[in-house]
Amino acid sequence: MALQNEAQDDWFERFKEFCMVNPILMGTLTSVVFLIVCWTIRDSLKIKDVREKYVFITGCDSGFGNLLAQRLHKRGFGVIAACLTEKGSQDLKACTSPALRTVILNVTNPRSIANAVEYVASETGKKGLFGLVNNAGRATPIGPTDWLDMEDFHRVLDVNLIGLIEVTLKFLPLLKKAQGRVVNVASVMGRLAFGGGGYCLSKCGVESFSDSLRRDMQYFGVKVSIIEPGFFKTGVTSLDVIEKDLNRLWNRLAPEVKCSYGDKYFDKYLKIQRLSMNTFCDADISKVTNCMEHALIARYPRTRYGAGWDAKLFWLPLSYAPAVVADKMLKLILPRPLGSKRVLSKNQVDV
Ligand SMILES: *[C@@H]1O[C@H](CO)[C@@H](O)[C@H](O)[C@H]1NC(C)=O
Repeated sequence: MALQNEAQDDWFERFKEFCMVNPILMGTLTSVVFLIVCWTIRDSLKIKDVREKYVFITGCDSGFGNLLAQRLHKRGFGVIAACLTEKGSQDLKACTSPALRTVILNVTNPRSIANAVEYVASETGKKGLFGLVNNAGRATPIGPTDWLDMEDFHRVLDVNLIGLIEVTLKFLPLLKKAQGRVVNVASVMGRLAFGGGGYCLSKCGVESFSDSLRRDMQYFGVKVSIIEPGFFKTGVTSLDVIEKDLNRLWNRLAPEVKCSYGDKYFDKYLKIQRLSMNTFCDADISKVTNCMEHALIARYPRTRYGAGWDAKLFWLPLSYAPAVVADKMLKLILPRPLGSKRVLSKNQVDV
């Protein structure tokens, strides 16, 4: 006992000495550790009862939405999974149980949205809707900007942004009733735009819409979270779909535009895209659904969730870097058109 006290006194003496020498450093360190511990505890607190709480998820045919529906169903939430296709809905029901409800939803069709709202209102009754997960989305057409026309932009924006806004507006009365939560799926490409087309615009729009929504809805107890996944293997990043659509874009290009890129550009573009997608795309999509689950189950959901190591360590930090740094990095990754300044001047020198 006496020995222990002595050892303790010794340790305490040395600690006191250290603090006396570095009071500011010690104060700062202690505060930082204290804040991290407090934040971690706060972040791990959960809501009490999950049963009798209803969550509506869009885009459940495959990918994040499909896995999230199964996960939340297992946890005991009342899950209403919206699928685009009848087949998607049947497959999801087949691997869960009849207690999981599904509804067919095309987010670009106002009548379809109205139907879904009516169904959810009747299922949830007086309780209202606890969670709305806006997950439905598409990436194609995506490619160099001067390969695209307005129709290409509309096709993505109508689903990812306009559709998401309309679904949210129509469900807000039910969400306010339950003091519920909105979870919107954006992307790292909403923070750092590269690859032309509606995708980056739509995801940037989702970030902005979600920020306004969060600030407007805080008075009603409705919370809003944004998920920012990096690259994951899902239907959205399917190379088959993206390459097929790129073929369509390349084949319809006017001869002078094709000429400015050069014959070899298209094949190089596909090769580099294949290589980078195969390197970057993570097959473990539960990293994304874990964030979505936290946003629904935590007592204090976070405002933003970066999902995946590429998002946390590369894309999101790069989005804070000066534009010139991001431009140089992306230039290293993407192929160079034949008509680019450097190639032209090199050719001139060669001649
Ligand atoms: C979704 O609705 C839009 C607008 O009504 C329609 O053009 C499109 O074909 C529909 N998509 C599917 C997959 O049903």
